[in-house]
Amino acid sequence: MDTAFKKSFPNDKQQFSWDHMTMGVCYYPEHWDENLWADDLARMKESGISVIRVAEFAWSKIEPAENEFDFSFFDRFLNLCLEQKMNVIFSTPTATPPAWLTEAHEEVLNARMDGVLYRHGCRKHYNYNSPVYQDYCRKIVTQSAMHYGPHPAVIGWQIDNELNCELRDFYSEADDTAFRAFLQEKYETLNALNQAWGTVFWNQTYTDWKEVHLPRLTPAQGVNPHMKLDYCRFLAESTFRFCKMQADILRRYIKPGDFITTNGMFSHIDNHRMTKECLDIYMYDSYPNFAFGLGTQPDKDPLCDRWNSKNQNEVRSICPHYGIMEQQSGAGGWTARMEGPAPRPGQLTLWAMQSVAHGADFISFFRWRTCTFGTELYWHGILDYDNRENRKLREVKDFYTKFQTLSPLCNADYVSSFGLLKDYDNIWDMEADIWHERIASYSDNEIFAGAELSNLPYDVLYLQKDSTLSELTRYPVLLYPHPLIMSKERAALLRAYVEQGGTLILGCRSGLKNTYGICEMLPQPGLLQELTGTDVRDFTYTSPAEEDIYADWNGSRLSMPVFNDVLTPLPGTDVLARYANGYYAGEAALTEHRMGKGRTLHLGSAFSRESLPGLLHYAGVVSPFAELIEADGRDVELTLRRKDGRSFLFALNFRPAEITFVLKKKMRFLYENREVSGGQTLPAFGTAVYEVL
Ligand code: GAL
Repeated sequence: MDTAFKKSFPNDKQQFSWDHMTMGVCYYPEHWDENLWADDLARMKESGISVIRVAEFAWSKIEPAENEFDFSFFDRFLNLCLEQKMNVIFSTPTATPPAWLTEAHEEVLNARMDGVLYRHGCRKHYNYNSPVYQDYCRKIVTQSAMHYGPHPAVIGWQIDNELNCELRDFYSEADDTAFRAFLQEKYETLNALNQAWGTVFWNQTYTDWKEVHLPRLTPAQGVNPHMKLDYCRFLAESTFRFCKMQADILRRYIKPGDFITTNGMFSHIDNHRMTKECLDIYMYDSYPNFAFGLGTQPDKDPLCDRWNSKNQNEVRSICPHYGIMEQQSGAGGWTARMEGPAPRPGQLTLWAMQSVAHGADFISFFRWRTCTFGTELYWHGILDYDNRENRKLREVKDFYTKFQTLSPLCNADYVSSFGLLKDYDNIWDMEADIWHERIASYSDNEIFAGAELSNLPYDVLYLQKDSTLSELTRYPVLLYPHPLIMSKERAALLRAYVEQGGTLILGCRSGLKNTYGICEMLPQPGLLQELTGTDVRDFTYTSPAEEDIYADWNGSRLSMPVFNDVLTPLPGTDVLARYANGYYAGEAALTEHRMGKGRTLHLGSAFSRESLPGLLHYAGVVSPFAELIEADGRDVELTLRRKDGRSFLFALNFRPAEITFVLKKKMRFLYENREVSGGQTLPAFGTAVYEVL
């Protein structure tokens, strides 16, 4: 195969990483006349594309009828790839079960909450728990892996496509049965389940396991919140098992050195556990314009589609050197939903560079050519229907040239200034609890905006059952905005972090609930009280009818949005700021409590883009860019990647206008291999990458 292609399996967090900057594209041989294949592959190679992802929706090309396997189609295609030295990521086609299967076995289909089945005709219409579907999947995955696993053109495998995309809720009969089994394993007795779900409330007490079901249609969306929390955990477990089932089969047949991946990122999945236990590398599908609104309107939102960086932070936490399986290259749109503009000149490169800036060393564009038929006929690829050279292909080629100049930073680590703690229990509890959701979503967005606008990059760190103190102590400052759900184990881990010298920042409502989502009958912040040294005796939503609530922090104004915990300092706790208005004016709003070598800051509200920089500054966080560049965070996204003592600075302009900044040190502008310093300009949607000299 292509000898330039080498791979390595560096550590146990991530088993696979690229050893050079690699460009790919998604290709669908089944969409095109076979006469086009050779020309397509040749043009891809000419443009710098050395990897293609195929087959994720092509079940019927391999098993056109039950148990009739026909490998001739992909044999022809893969042999052509081999001739043209094109590397292939082959996919398991389980995202689209064929019509012969769904017609014969309705039980493989997913259902709406009211039981109506999702039918054949779109994609992702199956459920993970049907034993019948699992059998068919095992068969197609085994057959594909046995046949294509040894193929020399194949370098890796994608499992399914975007697990939990389109549908992230599952209500089929098979799911109902599996949910009951999941609960029986977890609680063992009905009594324990009744306790954990507080079923005595509104007479929900279960007297027989057969009465226990998935959340169903109830008046006023009044689903039991504790049940909903377990339902989210169940969905994550189901997705995990489905992925693991496929990964275990693939492992038996793939060539040594080939990798297993899947693409995401969607909810109701524990992506961290899935990656750790099933995959060698995680891939993200990056559609900045799709996820973050239509177009670029800096006067309405200075961050524009830079918001996509928030997702990249999340992906990096799953897998530090992730890949991009689908990088947006054209306008987005299905025929019946979603409309999006074409990337403006420069934006295609900008979006791809943002992925590289965060840690991706593999960029695969979606897709080579726009399909001329089907639901996605407006989801544009690099080439348009007419198959002619166009500005997008020219930009892909230009991106490739730039991308290659970045080879010294392949595998370099992203540099952050603080850690943002999260956990799946709290994320899923938000779905059952709109009070929780309103506070935590507000803070999550504002923390991102505040950090971006003040050039304070952060890593996201998910607390898992097996999280260790050494993962936490890599960050001198950790922000855990609103851990409403808190367990004894987690509280002990946080305490150990603080005692050894860490600074922990907590917001309102911390420590309110146990792991079932039940409120603790303890003074708040419950299990965290030892750490915060505060007592919450009164609390309220801020009222939209009243003025904005703020606190006085040594004469400056500290915004206290959304929800206010009125803090009472316990002995030994310092009050840093006091509420300046509201009926609790004069009470503590921000406190500091020392324990061991560290301290906990407790803010009695949600976090805002205004309050964040001051809090982080007080906690000792410094921008890693301070010595390197003078740039306005509103104008430019900065990131830093570091490897073997070498530092690489990315500057990304998401605005439709030229911007300027000043490099404080001598640097090498990698695209042009020349030394620069002092004032620089970036054109509209421009990017630059510098090595610090
Ligand atoms: C992704 C998906 C692709 C394609 C693309 C555009 O979610 O993986 O198959 O559908 O979006 O809609």
